[in-house]
Amino acid sequence: MNGPPNVFWHQSSISRKDRERQNGHGGSIIWFTGLSGSGKSTLAHAVELELHNLGYRTTVLDGDNVRHGLCGDLGFSEQDRMENIRRIGQVARLFVDAGVIVLTAFISPNRVDRQRVRMMVEQERDFIEVFCNCQLEICEQRDVKGLYQRARKGEIKEFTGISSPYEAPENAELIVNTGDLSVGESVLEVLGYLDLRGILSLAGRKDESALG
Ligand code: ADX
Repeated sequence: MNGPPNVFWHQSSISRKDRERQNGHGGSIIWFTGLSGSGKSTLAHAVELELHNLGYRTTVLDGDNVRHGLCGDLGFSEQDRMENIRRIGQVARLFVDAGVIVLTAFISPNRVDRQRVRMMVEQERDFIEVFCNCQLEICEQRDVKGLYQRARKGEIKEFTGISSPYEAPENAELIVNTGDLSVGESVLEVLGYLDLRGILSLAGRKDESALG
């Protein structure tokens, strides 16, 4: 691993495997991407609640929250978005090393930035890209934060979908049509997929789930 000069990597005496054994499951990044208002945060939090109730160790990294702290110095230029996703990727990887399932909810509009995070992890199943597929018109209609209206008026520059591009994934592991589905239906799609990939075991833990 490349690092700055005169800085040495300290190898932990507890391995990722040790941590996963203690947690009773593997770590993974579930990467939600999509337009602002496409339902990424809502879905990530709703999936997390189910996982938590099933006994999984989880956390959510959410665009709006992370931009209050870790990435509070960044704006929405191409360069800043790239740095935003790079930092989130590094943090998410730390959680994976700790054997945690980390759900991230960032617009992450650039394919190359998402790909860079994918390349950071050890195994394929460590990075699951979930495309929250919701048409711009629907996001704009919802306009929960009133940002689309302001972007249309030119009050917010470089707004994704209006004056800044969004590159939809070409090979997402899962596409959830959040424009058509209810939150509950979307959650079931994500959980079903994670079960299929062996990231969860719904059969083993179903008794504890609110899903029954
Ligand atoms: S990303 O493009 O760098 O991945 P991120 O997910 O962290 O974006 O932050 C997006 C959130 O910031 C949006 O949901 C919205 O609430 C807010 N926001 C403020 N300005 C912009 C903008 N110019 N483009 C997109 N989102 C913006």
